[in-house]
Amino acid sequence: MDKLSITGGQALNGQITISGAKNSALKLMVASLLTPEPVTLSNVPNLADTRFLAQLLSTLGVDVYWPKGSNECHLNAEALTSTIAPYEQVRKMRASFNVLGPMVARYGHATVSLPGGCAIGARPVDLHLKALSAMGADLLVEGGYVKAAAIHGLKGARVVFPFVSVGATEHAMMAATLAKGTTILENAAREPEISDLADCLNKMGARITGAGTATLQIDGVEALNGTQHSVMPDRIEAGTFAMAVAATGGDVTLKRAPVNVLGAMIDALEQAGVTVDSDPSAETLRVARSTAPLRAVSINTQPHPGFPTDLQAQFMALMSLAGGTSIIRETIFENRFMHAPELSRLGANIEVGGREAVVKGVPNLKGAPVMATDLRASVSLVIAALAADGLTEVSRIYHLDRGFECLEEKLAACGALIQRVSAEEG
Ligand code: EPZ
Repeated sequence: MDKLSITGGQALNGQITISGAKNSALKLMVASLLTPEPVTLSNVPNLADTRFLAQLLSTLGVDVYWPKGSNECHLNAEALTSTIAPYEQVRKMRASFNVLGPMVARYGHATVSLPGGCAIGARPVDLHLKALSAMGADLLVEGGYVKAAAIHGLKGARVVFPFVSVGATEHAMMAATLAKGTTILENAAREPEISDLADCLNKMGARITGAGTATLQIDGVEALNGTQHSVMPDRIEAGTFAMAVAATGGDVTLKRAPVNVLGAMIDALEQAGVTVDSDPSAETLRVARSTAPLRAVSINTQPHPGFPTDLQAQFMALMSLAGGTSIIRETIFENRFMHAPELSRLGANIEVGGREAVVKGVPNLKGAPVMATDLRASVSLVIAALAADGLTEVSRIYHLDRGFECLEEKLAACGALIQRVSAEEG
């Protein structure tokens, strides 16, 4: 298994171009199932997860043309050959579950494996099923699979989500585009990826209003057409690099950064004493810190526009070097502190109790072997390692490859001493 070898203590300086958003690309790729016409997506990040979804779509009969190394992905779901998404594929990546609604909406039936639990929490799909059921789908959960049927098509419904779910909002929104009548989704997620998906679906002929607010209205249409769409830039990748610079010191300009949707993260960095200059029209975010010490800042993760759970681990790495004590509360997932013991191996002082972590800043971290546990946890270890004295080896980095395009290359171009060591060399 590959490892990352990082010699810390180098300030980061230069420019980094932000890639397309993983979590947007995945749902946009799924949306191609809603139309028999070609959908061309550009700015698609080359990641294990996006490549994996492309494979699942191929299994279903979607004609996928996505040359190696390219960021342009062509999808044509003219005629599916199967409406069954098997366990082996869905369990590896939860976003695969979202193929259920679009297939039912277009074909009247689909069978999709339940995704199962995952490292950061139980992550059930009850809200996804609640929404599809409200739209008239008959659902049978049997043998680990959801069998859904709507022989006469889905129909519009009013769905009130008891709490905010990104995946359930996206799933219901996609299915509702082809339902008969109007669907209203209340307490919908407001994440920017939902607006990106709604923009693409509207280009395909859907009639969605309210994206970015807590109430979405979707007036169903008979059929959708093909389109071309550029995936929005990845706000989590941008936030991750911003925190890396904050941790190591230096001066980096992030290009193609989705500045307007990073407010909570920018506020937290500024409170911590980091200089952040944003230029929304130029889509650039400059992050700089000289020798000024970091100040401790407490955060609660929240649905957008609050502080994102997908940046919590990275912020914890940063706070482990701040002067003072910060409290980090994780309100979205019940088990998302697995990075804490690994950060402690690098010398961080973190105590976890339930959904709260108390981080007492230390003056220095020190390199050590550590292990990646999930995508965002892994990159928090990279941030800590970049700031630590000496050598850190991060193992199990296949987690990183799921969600960060060219991570080592981008960091090395700014002066980081970071290198991938393949299993044969290690
Ligand atoms: C999306 O997951 C993202 N994944 C996650 O990013 C992100 O952390 C999360 O949204 C929150 O922002 C993708 O977009 C592919 P949720 P999702 O439904 O949609 C509970 C990353 O690292 N819930 O908003 O699965 C759930 O267990 C990943 O890139 C139910 O109880 O998240 C969680 O506690 C990790 N029942 C909470 O809601 C349901 O039916 C929010 O989950 C659905 C969710």
